Amino acid sequence: MDFSRPLVIVELGPGEGCHSRHIARQMCSNSRLILFELDKDFCRHLRRQFHNDPRVTILNVDAMRMAEELERLGNPRCDYVISGIPFLVIEANTKMRMLESIRQGMAPGASFITYQISLELKEYARQFHLNHREYCLFNIPPINILEFLKPIDSSRVAPTAST
Ligand SMILES: C[S@@+](CC[C@H](N)C(=O)[O-])C[C@H]1O[C@@H](n2cnc3c(N)ncnc32)[C@H](O)[C@@H]1O
Repeated sequence: MDFSRPLVIVELGPGEGCHSRHIARQMCSNSRLILFELDKDFCRHLRRQFHNDPRVTILNVDAMRMAEELERLGNPRCDYVISGIPFLVIEANTKMRMLESIRQGMAPGASFITYQISLELKEYARQFHLNHREYCLFNIPPINILEFLKPIDSSRVAPTAST
């Protein structure tokens, strides 16, 4: 991630906050980090960690609502989406709706980075361009890191797994 400029960063499913802390440490004072976490206890834990950091917003909201929440917050298009959502266990239609909300909330050329135990998401995320893929053996279990880009020209969209 390029932290040299002001950014709007969304994290979906931050859980305990290990990535959020790392991002907040690096981003500049006029960047914004918006966290979407379903679990109330994790939200409470995140609020404790970031209570004195005005750059960070914690939402106890489903990632499915990413695009509408960004509109509501006045930052309708983000530069990065970092996601820990376990897409593999999400039903296909829900997964497609979530991916569409993510796409809508991203600026053209923005980056959607996710860690997944399988590569299944590639088949569903055809509205994005797969820019980078890495296999991290040092995670337990080992994990795939995928970086998708929102095309600059969104009219050039490939068919998705459900079509
Ligand atoms: C794999 S864990 C993330 C772990 C995190 N990296 C950590 O170290 O704590 C996935 C997280 O996604 C959250 N989650 C799952 N589905 C979600 C959804 N639809 N919207 C928001 N958060 C969700 C879960 O509550 C969980 O905290």
